[in-house]
Amino acid sequence: MKTYLVTGGAGFIGSNYIHYMFGKYGDTIRIINVDALTYAGNPENLKEVETKDNYTFVKADICDKEAIEKIFAENEIDRVVHFAAESHVDRSIKNPEVFVQTNVYGTAVMLNCAKAAWELPDGSFKEGKRFLHVSTDEVYGSLEEDGGYFYETTPYAPHSPYSASKAGSDMLVKAYMDTYHFPANITNCSNNYGPYQFPEKLIPLIINNALQGKKLPVYGDGKNVRDWLYVEDHAKAIDMVQEKGRLFETYNVGGHNEKQNIEIVKIIIETLRDMLPETDERRAHLTEDLITYVEDRKGHDRRYAIAPDKIREEIGWEPETMFKDGIRRTIEWYFDHEDWMKNVTSGDYQKYYEEMYRAK
Ligand code: NAD
Ligand code: DAU
Repeated sequence: MKTYLVTGGAGFIGSNYIHYMFGKYGDTIRIINVDALTYAGNPENLKEVETKDNYTFVKADICDKEAIEKIFAENEIDRVVHFAAESHVDRSIKNPEVFVQTNVYGTAVMLNCAKAAWELPDGSFKEGKRFLHVSTDEVYGSLEEDGGYFYETTPYAPHSPYSASKAGSDMLVKAYMDTYHFPANITNCSNNYGPYQFPEKLIPLIINNALQGKKLPVYGDGKNVRDWLYVEDHAKAIDMVQEKGRLFETYNVGGHNEKQNIEIVKIIIETLRDMLPETDERRAHLTEDLITYVEDRKGHDRRYAIAPDKIREEIGWEPETMFKDGIRRTIEWYFDHEDWMKNVTSGDYQKYYEEMYRAK
């Protein structure tokens, strides 16, 4: 039975990954989830799995070397899947230090503890061990509106403190592979969407505001482009890279789903209107009049677009969820999980929202 150490598994992609893995492998794998439960970590995302015998939750910070060493000492870990990070660009612009701490230093701790646990006296590594570092397309910088894609060979050119800290963490993983022959892979994925995403990110924020009849803040001219991938397809890609990918390689993950932000906002309005019964009061004010163009994000990257050729050709991964189906499923999920939304937007979220959007 393989034992997976997942970091940041209580967040958006991590929790979807854990659900995907239990769905696929059932009781034939064991998962240990280490998460500090920052504002972005939510144990509710994992309610259905928390009583499973082959699932363990450890509340710890990845920067806490002793806590991570203890997990490796007490368990024979076969796979590390490293999601834990500060992940929101706007927060990184306001408060960069914690991004360097968690994303760079935290990754160094994870690498070092895995290396210490897996290294043999002759400097080679125990058979079958693998570390997967989950990274982002934002490390490649920004593309022109009218063309080009991010390939694995595209030079790094991060712009925000978030993407700079992720680039730093990627470089550390590359350094471990080059220096020690440490058994790792890196995946650089485009924007994910789906259930359990914290409503500081575009899609859940717009859904939440729309359902409350609040303004829908669109940065700048609304024409920035993101390349959207349904989160389950990302989970599947991570699993396939660990099982079939060549060690020491980077794989870009994306589904050729480029959309301008304003298109996304309009799709959400239209879909929600379609879903709400005629008698629902919210329907009357749910129109494009709610769209409000606000001050642009500082250093806002114009366009991201992944070329997923390598992962498709080498590993056979392809996204399964069409955008039109995935976005409807996602909107329905938030619509049906009002309590989840209420819980995550109570307390500190209101303060965050006021501070972030007051000036805009
Ligand atoms: P998220 O913010 O939803 O979740 C992050 C999780 O990490 C939370 O559960 C949080 O509690 C935990 N965490 C944060 N700091 C920690 C620390 N110091 N120690 C332990 N746990 C800590 O993020 P996400 O959107 O799920 O992203 C997960 C990973 O995927 C990140 O590394 C991110 O860079 C990468 N990524 C995200 C996207 C995307 O579209 N969201 C796309 C590509 C790559
Ligand atoms: O590309 C992968 C990255 O995607 C991940 O590495 C990050 O962790 C993840 O947060 C995401 O970054 P983005 O900055 O692209 O995502 P966000 O949802 O914050 O914003 C998407 C686009 O929408 C971006 O162009 C900014 C814009 N936006 C965002 C918010 C929150 C708005 O116009 N209004 C908003 O209120």
